[in-house]
Amino acid sequence: MRVKYCQKDFWFLYAAFRYTVAMRIGMIGLGRMGGNMAQRLAGGGHEVIGYAPHPPDPARLEEMHTTLAPDLPTLVAQLPAPRVVWIMVPAGDATQETVDALAKLLLPGDLIIDGGNTRYTDDIVRAAALQPKGIHYMDAGTSGGVWGLKLGYCLMVGGQPEDFQRVEPIFKTLAPPNGYLHCGAVGSGHFVKMVHNGIEYAMMQSYAEGFEIMQASRYPLDLPAIANVWMQGSVVRSWLLELTARALEQDPGLEHLQPWVEDSGEGRWTVEESINSAVPAPVIALSLMMRFRSRQENSFGARMLAAMRQQFGGHAVKSK
Ligand SMILES: NC(=O)c1ccc[n+]([C@@H]2O[C@H](COP(=O)([O-])OP(=O)(O)OC[C@H]3O[C@@H](n4cnc5c(N)ncnc54)[C@H](OP(=O)(O)O)[C@@H]3O)[C@@H](O)[C@H]2O)c1
Repeated sequence: MRVKYCQKDFWFLYAAFRYTVAMRIGMIGLGRMGGNMAQRLAGGGHEVIGYAPHPPDPARLEEMHTTLAPDLPTLVAQLPAPRVVWIMVPAGDATQETVDALAKLLLPGDLIIDGGNTRYTDDIVRAAALQPKGIHYMDAGTSGGVWGLKLGYCLMVGGQPEDFQRVEPIFKTLAPPNGYLHCGAVGSGHFVKMVHNGIEYAMMQSYAEGFEIMQASRYPLDLPAIANVWMQGSVVRSWLLELTARALEQDPGLEHLQPWVEDSGEGRWTVEESINSAVPAPVIALSLMMRFRSRQENSFGARMLAAMRQQFGGHAVKSK
């Protein structure tokens, strides 16, 4: 019994030491995500050197407890070797440009972590391109939005196990308890994040349809109250529903919004993945299509439907 307690105590001491290791990290991109992540890291005892083309104002920088570098070479020069640089910029060209610029500045053993919403196949190409230079690369699918500063970010990480262990104190600080996972090899983190967002599209669409049916019903239903009561033990309770309740409380008719919904890549990639692997994913696919539909102010397809009905059946149409 005594031996058991000793082992337990040792483990807790080891864990405490391991997880309170302060690191110095570069954060590129200080927007909604990168700025808050820098702030959370600094709050957790890490030192953050930040860079963005248009940096935040001094008051915000002070809040973030982040040292601003005027350019990437200065940021890299302020990091101890082996360096760790986290990229939190828009996926695609901006991230690729940043990786390319860092590839010229970093040295063997240094590590790039891409936390943006990059397509996992891009990670695989990048890691392979950096490998001959000895620069390590990890992908960290990040979920939590602007609430992550307070609640922590769910992190889905891909990369070499030794790299994961090296920067685990950073993941530990950014995430809520049990909120980060080493998913596997390079690309696996963004792959899991992609599917996560595909599921998110479908969940959001489903809530939107259900609430519209209730809004159109014969009963004058209190939608914010319904969203709130569903949060209490119901099968469909979720954080998205909590946010739905919040939005409906602020504006029950959502009158301040246009019915226009953007998509940012992951939904499309999830659908493409389902096609490539012949896995049926009709709900996610349709939720993506509904976003396309939301952005059409005057659908040619809908006018085609009206035209055909008028042609074959003389059915009523609405003319302009
Ligand atoms: N917002 C979310 O809820 C969320 C959630 C998960 C993941 N993400 C992902 O996180 C990443 C950042 O998103 P965000 O919402 O923080 O975007 P954001 O608020 O628009 O901030 C983007 C940041 O990237 C910087 N940037 C843009 N182009 C750059 C370039 N070529 N080189 C260096 N820095 C550049 C911007 O600097 P300037 O302002 O000076 O141009 C800004 O600091 C994206 O990949 C996004 O998909 C976002």
